[in-house]
Amino acid sequence: MAGVRAVVLVVLLAYTVGGLAYDSDMLQDVCVADPKSGILVNGFPCKNISMIAAEDFFFMGISKPGQITNKVLGSKVTGANVMDIPGLNTLGVSMARVDFAPYGLNPPHIHPRATEIIYVLEGELYVAFITTSNKLISKVVKTGEVFVFPRGLAHYQKNKSKYPTSVIAAFNSQLPGTQQFAAALFTSNPPVSNDVLAQTFNIDEHNVEKIKAGLAA
Ligand SMILES: *[C@@H]1O[C@H](CO)[C@@H](O)[C@H](O)[C@H]1NC(C)=O
Ligand SMILES: *[C@@H]1O[C@H](CO)[C@@H](O)[C@H](O)[C@H]1NC(C)=O
Repeated sequence: MAGVRAVVLVVLLAYTVGGLAYDSDMLQDVCVADPKSGILVNGFPCKNISMIAAEDFFFMGISKPGQITNKVLGSKVTGANVMDIPGLNTLGVSMARVDFAPYGLNPPHIHPRATEIIYVLEGELYVAFITTSNKLISKVVKTGEVFVFPRGLAHYQKNKSKYPTSVIAAFNSQLPGTQQFAAALFTSNPPVSNDVLAQTFNIDEHNVEKIKAGLAA
């Protein structure tokens, strides 16, 4: 009987743990990140609660448009996550702001730890994600409208016209993480070897070099 109960418990636990699709639940009121502690845990250890202040829960970094320095892409992502707001530690949410120059692109990427929902502050934006069965889901979203990018799926955003546009993004993770496909494949350190990339894309190695050079510029 105890054996059966143990098996049921293990199965239930495995199901629950495996089914978690968001940051773990918090076990206390606040756990303001103490990035200087040097202790490595899943997340950050907590600051002594007697030392916390409103500043730990505050960030003004997305109040204004981000500086768009990448002229090729013409977009700038400004995070507002646990790295910027220590009070977000263990809370399972964060935000970002993305500013687009005319024709700007936020290139294909994934967030391994979060679903994303965007709210268009200004302008219109072409948005798209790709399912694991390779179906492209796309739409043009306008000022005040929202769009959802499901967790872990490839997605991108493109401003298709001559006006700037901006969006606010929300995530169900304190640190959603971003992996850009082009950067991961062509600018990793140490690099993915050219023969692997040439074979993957069925192109010559000198074309691989060309892509690498273009991304480094
Ligand atoms: C937290 O800070 C208070 C006040 O400085 C101190 O009395 C207490 O011992 C500290 N707690 C820990 C766990 O360091
Ligand atoms: C950004 O691009 C869209 C097309 O996707 C365009 O309709 C829109 O006008 C542009 N931005 C603004 C601010 O309108």
